[in-house]
Amino acid sequence: ERSLAGLEADRSVPASHRVQNRQAEDAAEAGTTGFDNQPDTDPALAANRTWGREILGRSVSSTLGLDTIAIAKVETDAELDDVFAAATAAAERWAARPAAERAAVLHRAGDELAARRGQLIEIMAHEAGKTIAEADPEISEAIDFAHYYAERALDLEAVSGAEFVPSKVTVVTPPWNFPVAIPAGGVLAGLASGSGVIIKPAKLTQRCGAVMVEALWAAGVPRDLLALVDLASRDLGTRLVASPAVDRVILTGAYETAQLFRSFRSDLPLLAETSGKNAIIVTPSADLDLAAADVAKSAFGHAGQKCSAASLVILVGSVAESKRFERQLVDAVRSMRVGLPDDPATQMGPIIEPASGKLLTALTKLEKGERWLVEPRKLDAEGKQWTPGVKTGVREGSYFHLTEFFGPVLGVMHAKDLDEAIRLQNAVDYGLTAGLHSLDSDEVSTWLDRVEAGNLYVNRGITGAIVQRQPFGGWKRSAVGAGAKAGGPNYLFGLGEWVSAELPA
Ligand code: ALA
Repeated sequence: ERSLAGLEADRSVPASHRVQNRQAEDAAEAGTTGFDNQPDTDPALAANRTWGREILGRSVSSTLGLDTIAIAKVETDAELDDVFAAATAAAERWAARPAAERAAVLHRAGDELAARRGQLIEIMAHEAGKTIAEADPEISEAIDFAHYYAERALDLEAVSGAEFVPSKVTVVTPPWNFPVAIPAGGVLAGLASGSGVIIKPAKLTQRCGAVMVEALWAAGVPRDLLALVDLASRDLGTRLVASPAVDRVILTGAYETAQLFRSFRSDLPLLAETSGKNAIIVTPSADLDLAAADVAKSAFGHAGQKCSAASLVILVGSVAESKRFERQLVDAVRSMRVGLPDDPATQMGPIIEPASGKLLTALTKLEKGERWLVEPRKLDAEGKQWTPGVKTGVREGSYFHLTEFFGPVLGVMHAKDLDEAIRLQNAVDYGLTAGLHSLDSDEVSTWLDRVEAGNLYVNRGITGAIVQRQPFGGWKRSAVGAGAKAGGPNYLFGLGEWVSAELPA
C-alpha cells in the first residue's frame, strides 16, 4: 500500500507551527475544554517563506500519480452496500464509546491535519490551483473544525445524556473550492455525533479529500467508520444520497444540487449550504483605502471561486459620484499579481476549469449601461488563466446583478443612499455573505437590521469565516434543509427530533 500521507513528512509543517499543535494535551493538562483558533503560517518570517517555496517548488507529478489508500473505488450497487454496511456496523461501536474517547480522537485529528499542512497545501495547489495564501488558512480552518467538533462531542453527551440516539450514517458531499476544510467540517461533525461517515469528494479534488481522511485515520478514526468513495456512475451517486441507511446528508454546493438531492428522497435529512451572490456596500463615511483592499481581496481571492466571494460592490452617494473609490479599486485590482500557484507571490491563480457558460459570458460581455473599469484578459489557450475583471454601471435587475458566476469578475453598482443600496443587496435570491464599509454607527445598525444574509461583515472582507466565531451559512437560496451553519452545532444533528435540541452556548 502506498500513501501520499507518508511522503515528505519532515517538510510538512513550517517551523513556526511545530510547537502549536497539541491542543488535546494542553486541554487535558489544564483540565478544561476550549480551543484557540489555529494561526496561519506567517509569511513575514523568512523561515516560513523558505518553507513555502520548498513546498510549491517540488515536482508533484510523482505524488499526484499515486493512488491514495483512502480512495475506495465503488463500481457496483453491491460494493456501495458493503460500504454502508461497514459504516453502519462501525458506527454502533463508535457511538458506544465514551464521548471523551471520541473527543480525544478528534483532537488528535486536528494534530494530524496540522502535521500535513505542507502536503495538503501542495496538493491543493496542484489539484485546485490554490495559492499558498489561500490554501494555508484553509488548513487552519480544517484543524479548527477538529478541535471545535471534539468539544461538541462532549457537549452532545452532556445535553442529550441517555436519550442520545446517534445517526448511523452521514453522507458528506463537499465541493472542489475548499477541498480540505469543507469536507473536514462535515466529516468531523458526523464523527462527533457518533455517526459513521461516507464522503464523496468532488472529482476534481479527490486527493485533497483523501489526504484529509488519511489524517483522520492516523488519529485513530476507525477505517471502516469513515470511507471516501469514488463512484463509477451517477446512479451510484443517487443511491448514495437516497439510501434509507443514510440519516443525514451534508452538502455544500449549488442550490440546484440541493434540489436534486431532495428529489431523490422526500424525507431526506439534508443540511445544505448552497449558492451565493454577495455584495459589499461602501458608504461616504467609509475608510475608502480599507474598503478598496477588502473588496479586491473578497472578489478575487481564489479567483472569485468562493460561495462567500464579493461579486458586487455597491457605492453609495458621493462614493459613486466622485470616482475616487473606483480609481482606488482599479489600482488595487491592476496591481494584483496573477500567475500560477507554484509561485508563492501569486495573488490570483487560475480557475479550476476553462471558463464556460455563465462565467464566460460575465467575463466577456457587457450588458446595457455597463463598461469595463478593468477588462479581463485570457492568458492561456485553454481559458483557465484570466486577469481579474471589474465592470461598472451594473443595473438593477440585470443578469449580472442577480446571477452567481463563481469566477474573477466584479460588478460595480451605484445607489443614491443606503436604503437603495440595501435594496439592491437584498434583491438577489441568495443570502450568504454581505458586507458594509461604514464608520457611521447609525448606518451600521440600519444595515444590520435590514440586510438579508447569513454572514454579515462590517469593515472587513466577506470571505474567510473563522470556525466557532463566525459559523458559516446563509438563508434564502443559500441554505436548504435544517439551517446549515458550518462550524456551528447544526451539523451534529441528523434526525429531525434532534434539530430542536439546545446546546450550551
Ligand atoms: N467558509 C468560507 C468563507 O468564509 C466559504 O469564505
